[in-house]
Amino acid sequence: MAETRERWDSRGAFIMAAIGSAVGLGNVWRFPYIAYDNGGGAFFIPYFVALLTAGIPLMIVEYALGVRFQGSAARSFRKVGRGWEWLGWWALMVGSVISFYYCVIMAWSWRYLYDSVASIFTGGVPWAGDRAKDCFYNGVLHLSKGPGEVGGLVWPIVGGLALTWLSIWWIIHKGVKRVGKIVMLTVPLPVLILVVLFIRGVTLEGAASGISFYLTPDFAALTNPRVWVAAYGQIFFSLSLGFGILIAYASYLPKRSDITNNAFITSFSNCLTSFFAGFVVFSVLGFLAHQKGVPVKDVLSSGPGLAFVTYPTAIAKIQMGNFLIAVVSALFFLMLLSLGVDSAFSIVEGMVTGLHDKFRANRGVICALMCTFGFLAGLVFCTDAGLYYLDIADNWMSKYGLALVGLMECIVVGWFFGSHRLRKLFRREHPELAEGAPLCGPYELKQYVNEVSDFRVGWWWDLCIMVVTPGILTGAIVLNFLDYLKEGYLQGPGKPYPTWAVVLLGWGLAGLVVLLGIFFMVLRGGRDEGEEVAS
Ligand code: PHE
Repeated sequence: MAETRERWDSRGAFIMAAIGSAVGLGNVWRFPYIAYDNGGGAFFIPYFVALLTAGIPLMIVEYALGVRFQGSAARSFRKVGRGWEWLGWWALMVGSVISFYYCVIMAWSWRYLYDSVASIFTGGVPWAGDRAKDCFYNGVLHLSKGPGEVGGLVWPIVGGLALTWLSIWWIIHKGVKRVGKIVMLTVPLPVLILVVLFIRGVTLEGAASGISFYLTPDFAALTNPRVWVAAYGQIFFSLSLGFGILIAYASYLPKRSDITNNAFITSFSNCLTSFFAGFVVFSVLGFLAHQKGVPVKDVLSSGPGLAFVTYPTAIAKIQMGNFLIAVVSALFFLMLLSLGVDSAFSIVEGMVTGLHDKFRANRGVICALMCTFGFLAGLVFCTDAGLYYLDIADNWMSKYGLALVGLMECIVVGWFFGSHRLRKLFRREHPELAEGAPLCGPYELKQYVNEVSDFRVGWWWDLCIMVVTPGILTGAIVLNFLDYLKEGYLQGPGKPYPTWAVVLLGWGLAGLVVLLGIFFMVLRGGRDEGEEVAS
């Protein structure tokens, strides 16, 4: 039975959705800190190189697979070769684990948004006057002393989590048409708020010293391989590569849609947003340092510490009255929520598309099941020890999970896509193009990309997919692993996490994903609904 696939309303809707997925919390709380920590202004060199040699080429691969095969990551890889379906599921599962904790971060933001608005009536935000640390770790998170002290569920966070999953369900259960409409709000809104925060930030005293801290280049850092690994890692996480999301999104484009131009537009918009967010963050850090009379270095933080402690502390110090402090704080958390939500639902959409393509079950039912499951799985991160678990899961998924999927994607597309069976299929479909096809390399896909896109990719693309990106990803995985062997995984300065926590939440979670991948590999016998037989 031939399927009629759902479509985006327009190319613009697709591009916005892809940008929405890419631009997320990471742009605000990861990028500025990573940039500062890895050479400041000099970091833009490895970052740009990573964007051109790994980010854009792999995004072209993901878009191309989706557009060409009109299916989720799992279906697309299955069409590359029957034996590769598991890789698609693997990507989707890594993404799903990330969504479980990503939504918990959004749950914290709901709590803060509520507190910000409530402070209009209660006469001041609860984290004013250097109380943000206590407010976040004790008040909001109920953080226990270590991963072993699980404690109970923290109900306000559970409530926020439920709200987050309900929004995700509501946005995606009807299909990509609604997604296309929602992103018209959730993509520009946070950028607009960033601009407001930028204007407020740069007009503060001390802002210039913060910004110069962000941008001052340390060219010596470029000789450190870890700086390069950080750049590639950030590009991967930030562009939402390796989760199968972009494959799913692209599969809702008509079969002959542009690929290369869309990839350039998405990735440049994302990276510019990150760069811009750096000014917003560092101007306020400069102000905070100025207020405290300490160097900017001393007020630096990243991740939850930046978004929920340092930034709110700084806002509360601005001399502008309680009402405006409440408004600016509320805007900031609204920005986090709107940044996060389109990234979060894109992951769920990737999985829902995967299951829908595979089992043809009712989309609404799959969506409801996935969202319920995501909510339940996320409860682990809503306990008193939740922050520790979140930190470990995040470290393993983003350092190993993502890099491994990206590596496999390059190898499969770069070295196996020219397999005999596909070559035959391709020759049949495009006799005029297949003449003189080399024996390996992403030849077919490249011809396809060049045939349908606004502009062509050249030999550099093959080189990146086949050699450069897999080489660097392998290096990154090895380097990260060696670092782990050397010092374990630290919980705060010099304090290692207990082995059981790392084994369970780091290796265990990663292992579970691999095992499930193998499960799908064994299951490969069955045929997808609506699948065309290739040879
Ligand atoms: N790209 C998003 C960010 O920078 C992160 C993300 C992770 C998005 C996982 C989708 C899936 O925050």
